[in-house]
Amino acid sequence: MTGKQKQPSLIQAKKEAEQLRKLIRTHDRKYYVENQPEITDQEYDRLVKSLKNLETAFPSIVSDDSPTQRIGDRPLEGFTQARHRELMLSLDNTYSADELREFDARVKKFFKGESVNYVAELKFDGVSVSLVYEKGRFIRGVTRGDGEQGDDITANLKTIRAIPLSLPESEEGSRIPFMEIRGEVYMPRAAFEALNRQREKTGEQVFANPRNASAGSLKQLDSRITAQRRLDLFCYGFGAVEGRRFDTHHEALDFLKKAGFRVNAHARKCRDIEEAIAYCNEWESKRKKLDYDIDGMVIKVDSTDQRSRLGVTAKSPRFAISYKFPAERAETQLLDIEVNVGRTGTLTPVAVLKPVFLAGTTVSRASLHNEDEIRRKDVQIGDWVLIEKAGEIIPQVIEVIKHKRDAKAGPFRMPLRCPVCGGPVSRDPEEVALRCESLTCPAQLKERVVHFAQRDAMDIEGLGDSLAQQLVDSRLVKSCADIYSLTKGKLLALERMGEKSAENLLKGIEVSKNRGLSRLFFALGIRHVGQTGAQALARHFGSMEKVVSASLEELKEIPQVGPVMAGSIRQFFESALNKTVLERLKEAGVRTREAGVHPVSGRLAGKVIVFTGELAGFSRSRAEELIRHHGGGVSSVVTKKTNLVVVGDSPGSKYEKAKRLGVDIINEAEFKKLIGQ
Ligand code: IVH
Repeated sequence: MTGKQKQPSLIQAKKEAEQLRKLIRTHDRKYYVENQPEITDQEYDRLVKSLKNLETAFPSIVSDDSPTQRIGDRPLEGFTQARHRELMLSLDNTYSADELREFDARVKKFFKGESVNYVAELKFDGVSVSLVYEKGRFIRGVTRGDGEQGDDITANLKTIRAIPLSLPESEEGSRIPFMEIRGEVYMPRAAFEALNRQREKTGEQVFANPRNASAGSLKQLDSRITAQRRLDLFCYGFGAVEGRRFDTHHEALDFLKKAGFRVNAHARKCRDIEEAIAYCNEWESKRKKLDYDIDGMVIKVDSTDQRSRLGVTAKSPRFAISYKFPAERAETQLLDIEVNVGRTGTLTPVAVLKPVFLAGTTVSRASLHNEDEIRRKDVQIGDWVLIEKAGEIIPQVIEVIKHKRDAKAGPFRMPLRCPVCGGPVSRDPEEVALRCESLTCPAQLKERVVHFAQRDAMDIEGLGDSLAQQLVDSRLVKSCADIYSLTKGKLLALERMGEKSAENLLKGIEVSKNRGLSRLFFALGIRHVGQTGAQALARHFGSMEKVVSASLEELKEIPQVGPVMAGSIRQFFESALNKTVLERLKEAGVRTREAGVHPVSGRLAGKVIVFTGELAGFSRSRAEELIRHHGGGVSSVVTKKTNLVVVGDSPGSKYEKAKRLGVDIINEAEFKKLIGQ
């Protein structure tokens, strides 16, 4: 005899595996559902290991609902869609006790004096799912989706140990032919904090809150990732059920509990709405003690018969309503005010806070929006402030606790220069935000490059989002002008850049040099200058130099350019940094004249001409075009700088003004002569 253990027979193995599975299921339930483990983790692991060994030796005995099958070994290609037998609706929200009383009045009116009992439950802040069981076996798990159908996320839900893969035969649930069980998957706060700590360490983006973390985890195509996320769930109701009826909601919850599902312990039967309201108030203050997030309470009519008589509206059932808690607030100290520059150049003041725990996360920064807000709330560095967090929105500073202010830091002033690039900042007259408009500002560069290269602008094929990011990150491009000094050698140093793509890109860049002035104006991303504005500028001035040196007044003369756009253009060209970029674009050979506008003569060079009244022989735009062809410019207002006014039929006030200012005036015939016709 060798020392080897004798292999059991197939029949023995099958029997043994069944016993182990039963044992593991029992301990899963005690641990994950009832919160009362009876064995140590090591003992539990030993049971699972024995089962795994048996199943490896006898692969034919593996069953779908074996605890070893909770984690798949291969990612999915994508989720398939699965239909709900009964719609998954949502709830109407209320925000006050009075609104709850109105709900009660509606229900009472419907039943004309019948007594109504309610069940009040916590409203878990997670992701709602539908668990489908056929004859006691978990066959499918689906997200809410659009209410009619959702993603089949069975593999991911199987990793949640609180979800039984099969119901014990002794339980009534195992004999029910079909049931959809509705519940909420959530991530306990501790698991959420640990996950974010780990993600921070590995440089991954952190989740904003436990709900986002749950949703993100359930969306994984690889269930091995979901399995590491420590998700949990509470079951709170049914969809379609075959072969079983429950008279009341609390009876249904009892059934779920007995069948091995995790049901929250705080559901309470209430005899009237006042009792339910009192219970809501109780949880509003106790919610912080929970180790999971709730965002309100749900009040449900208890009787199944009454529920079906009430029916549903298009979106929500009439038998239930949610009561949402007001956003949580916390008090903390404002340590500093930092100014961030967004990707479009907006300067946003951010409060740096003494870290404080609020609604499930530690908050150390909050938005202050803009300078006006800071002034309105009189926020000063060192102040004690009240902060609030509503849903996934970034925390906000609500108000200053004035009586706690000791030393006065004085009013906060926004910087006069961009904190990222040092360029000038300006305030849009129509907006409160300050903005950096520098073409070289690193905070905005990637977006600027993407905009510059887009189809309606310089149309550089192959220069999209990810390449722009690479060019900026590698510091090959520090302003849009650098695009034109890219070489094959430089491009090949980038990751994922092959010879062919580099060559094509360079070709695209070369071609883009000839797009013409109006595209270039648009590509520069000057605030308020869209395609139409850019075209008008190009048409009117004909060259970049003329626009750069145009005065505010001259800019305003163009009909398509209002005072806001004119101001913004001036601001843009006043920046020395921007002027350098323009110079470099020109040096690189980028066309800075409008394509197709080549003055045929210089006989009107430098002349500004204004039309008033109708011309018989030309349309206005044709007349303007002719002037530009001879090197002149057109304006719509008469000023001292106007060289000539062309008067047609029934002229307007411009004629009077020209006379007053002593500007030369000619008629249509003289105009014709002037342009050589
Ligand atoms: S009952 C017809 N009970 O709230 C919908 N929902 O806005 C019946 N939720 O999609 C849902 N806790 O994701 C119900 N105790 C609870 C709940 C709850 C959280 C979520 C659920 C639903 C949403 C409705």
